[in-house]
Amino acid sequence: MEKTLVIIKPEAVKRALVGEILSRFEKKGLTIKHLKVGQVSAEVARVHYGHHADKPFFPGLIEAITAGPVVFAVLEGPHCIQHVRNIIGATDPLKATPGTIRGDFALVNPTNMVHASDSPETAEMEIRRFFPELGQGA
Ligand code: CMP
Repeated sequence: MEKTLVIIKPEAVKRALVGEILSRFEKKGLTIKHLKVGQVSAEVARVHYGHHADKPFFPGLIEAITAGPVVFAVLEGPHCIQHVRNIIGATDPLKATPGTIRGDFALVNPTNMVHASDSPETAEMEIRRFFPELGQGA
């Protein structure tokens, strides 16, 4: 069954939106396979967002994702990656449709509330990155 990695970002944790966000995935029918509170270190953030390293917003992105506690989740279900991306909405909160998480709760990047994997390959890599304790069970 397809899996994806979701990070509920520091701004969303600070605003007490964890339950609301997880509830939307659950109501869709996706299964929460693994869930934990944690923190993204600057070192891991620079790897995770390495493909944005040359962008002007990179320092602000690293600052935002390391600003406080986050919630990591592995979700599972048929077509899970695309369903989660539909539920969270467009990357830019200004373009995210109302009814999506970013459309309902975010105003501007980089505080767009949620990160989710964008392909099976990145999902596998990101699950291993943020849940190293799962080993082969990931
Ligand atoms: P995320 O899905 O975590 O993946 C990359 C992140 O970069 C994205 O969400 C946004 O938080 C951030 N981002 C993308 N574009 C911009 C931008 N133009 N300005 C600031 N942050 C951005």
